[in-house]
Amino acid sequence: MEKSIAILEGDGIGPEITREALKVLDAVAAKFGHRFVQRPAPFGAQAYFDEGSPFPELTKRVCDEADVIIKGPVGLAVERMNDIPPEHRPELGAILPLRRRYDTFANYRPVVLPKSLASFSPLKPSVVGNGIDILMIRELVGGIYFGDKVEGPSTGMRSSKDDCSYTDEQVRRVAHVAFAEARKRKSQLTNVHKANVLATGRFWNAVVEDVAKEYGDVPYRSVLVDNAAFQLVVNPTQFNGVMLLENMQGDILTDQAGGIIGSLGLMPSACVGPKKSYVEPAHGSAPDIAGKNVANPYSMIGSIALMLELCLGLPNEARAVWDALFRVFERGTTGDLPAADKELLTTTEFGDRVVAAL
Ligand code: NAI
Ligand code: MG
Repeated sequence: MEKSIAILEGDGIGPEITREALKVLDAVAAKFGHRFVQRPAPFGAQAYFDEGSPFPELTKRVCDEADVIIKGPVGLAVERMNDIPPEHRPELGAILPLRRRYDTFANYRPVVLPKSLASFSPLKPSVVGNGIDILMIRELVGGIYFGDKVEGPSTGMRSSKDDCSYTDEQVRRVAHVAFAEARKRKSQLTNVHKANVLATGRFWNAVVEDVAKEYGDVPYRSVLVDNAAFQLVVNPTQFNGVMLLENMQGDILTDQAGGIIGSLGLMPSACVGPKKSYVEPAHGSAPDIAGKNVANPYSMIGSIALMLELCLGLPNEARAVWDALFRVFERGTTGDLPAADKELLTTTEFGDRVVAAL
């Protein structure tokens, strides 16, 4: 297969972990006889400083022409946020416009910790049990993140407002993705919501329950988001299977999921749209560890595996990458996941080991 791929390495640890992921992609291409043409383009905070825009026109063109997009994390340290005006900050000026441009409504965030790696989790081994294996599917282009925003200070008001809305079609299409995944895995689907308070929560549930009728073979249940946050910590394996979440609740609970398996460095993701998709780690640019060659590249390499499977239809290649990743963890680890019985690896060494394992 020949595909063209836009590469947006991003900020902070973005370039470091993207480099390792591309090494792995090259190894996959060599092993399986594919050609992946890579086209790098600026995106994020550094792009704003260099080009005056976090999502420059040139980058839009490169992304439009590519078959799929690999995106590293973007953003400045929270204390440096004010160095960039709000409309040009990486979230509002780059990530949301990227998601809107390609309508990438289904965000796949696998949360996987096998029993053999239970020591990575801050939870007791008895809580991790036989392992955590949850596919969180987050709606990515609706809800409060995409609603109208009224900023108090800019209008001279002493208040501000964010609108939250969902249409039938927005909820329906992501619910179909989640149910289809649950059916494929022969697993349950847990729908997360806040229907006891929000009108959009009640609407979300009504549409999801309507879609559920088409998947009578998929065990289905609903849980309030605040209870889900609690249950994820005390008994995460009850959610093994698929969890369906709206945009903001999914943003928050997927970071919590990174916490329960030990690190955000274990959180890859894919953002899938009707015509074009992109992959990115679920975490941010980790400015606290940038430039030190200590970041865990699993999240970015796992995102490559998701790209191979979900965006390019190459499940065997994806499986090979996952297997290689877990083989590296048999004896090695990175600084975010200390383990006395494993060798401490740098970002570069981890990438090299994955390539060797492939
Ligand atoms: P963060 O997700 O960058 O980091 C949180 C913690 O996790 C830090 O201690 C960091 O060192 C650690 N961490 C994250 N990824 C890691 C990895 N691969 N290996 C080892 N440790 C890792 O969150 P933070 O610091 O709140 O945000 C930094 C910037 O990232 C902000 O500008 C934020 O807006 C942006 N951001 C961007 C996202 C994106 O590009 N999609 C998503 C989330 C945040
Ligand atoms: Mg987030």
